[in-house]
Amino acid sequence: MSSVMSGRSGFTIRFTLFAAMLSLGNQAFSQDTQFSLDDRLLNASPYSIAADPELDDHMTGLAEAAISEHCAACHGADLTGRPGVPNLVDFDWLWGITFEETNEVGPIMELVQTITHGVRNTDCPDIEDVSYYGGCADTRYSEMPGYGGLGIFNDEQLADLTEYVLQLSGETADAAAAARGEALWPICIECHGPEGFGYKPYGGPDLTDGVSLFGNDRETVLDVIKEGRTEVCPAWGNTLAPATIKALAVYIWRRANGG
Ligand code: HEC
Ligand code: HEC
Repeated sequence: MSSVMSGRSGFTIRFTLFAAMLSLGNQAFSQDTQFSLDDRLLNASPYSIAADPELDDHMTGLAEAAISEHCAACHGADLTGRPGVPNLVDFDWLWGITFEETNEVGPIMELVQTITHGVRNTDCPDIEDVSYYGGCADTRYSEMPGYGGLGIFNDEQLADLTEYVLQLSGETADAAAAARGEALWPICIECHGPEGFGYKPYGGPDLTDGVSLFGNDRETVLDVIKEGRTEVCPAWGNTLAPATIKALAVYIWRRANGG
């Protein structure tokens, strides 16, 4: 009997609290219909940002300040990158964006993901976030293996693979060596795709488009295949506000599209 009683009074108290919260919520809502520019930016599609000059100015201001303070050191003030750091405005993407998108919302979410969680980021505020491969949860992750140290290929085979990559990227290559390299290519498909067009979920670059992260010369290509590469972009979710990250994603996408 007493447990039924306390159950009932518990219900009454919870119901009263719930009703009080509802009316408080209503009050807050009716008094604060004017959301901050940051809130509006976070909830707006790229189309509604472009259609609202005040919001568009806010987005541009946040993005340009963050770029000169946080991104220019690596990606350059004009965001065109340098060896090992990608150009962010050439519409050639390593991560997530497949070129088959039919609207602007998906690619901007991919950029928000990359900027928030970084690439191969290992600086996790909460140690439990470290995943089995050593990166933080949600960071973009994969590795270009260093085949020189793996004992899979000998020096001739590494040179043959180099000629095949040069051929894929339209550089002058030794045709016979490239044909031998092509026979070894299946091991590379997982991240660069059967035809070398790249694989966005693993950040494996397109090797056929003439855009090169590290360089298209023979010496650099051989070095990448032999030594591997694991470049890092920091996780900006550790330091930048969500509205700034959204502004960066919208701004970078627009610049990459020529805007
Ligand atoms: C310490 C150097 C460094 C800084 C600072 C840096 N980045 Fe990066 N960023 C990189 C590197 C290196 C990569 C390439 C990682 C890889 O190999 O995939 C990258 C990749 C990216 C990508 C993925 C591009 C693609 O093609 O998918 C985005 C987006 C990006 N950075 C945005 C930013 C933004 C925005 C800032 C500033 C808030 C910033 N980065 C600051 C080094 C940096
Ligand atoms: C497990 C995934 C993975 C496999 C397998 C892999 N790669 Fe890569 N490769 C990458 C990633 C990721 C990068 C970019 C590394 C970075 O940005 O730090 C890359 C970069 C490269 C580059 C430099 C491209 C540029 O734009 O400068 C070359 C060349 C290359 N890989 C060749 C190969 C060859 C040849 C093989 C097979 C023998 C191979 N890769 C296998 C993931 C892979």
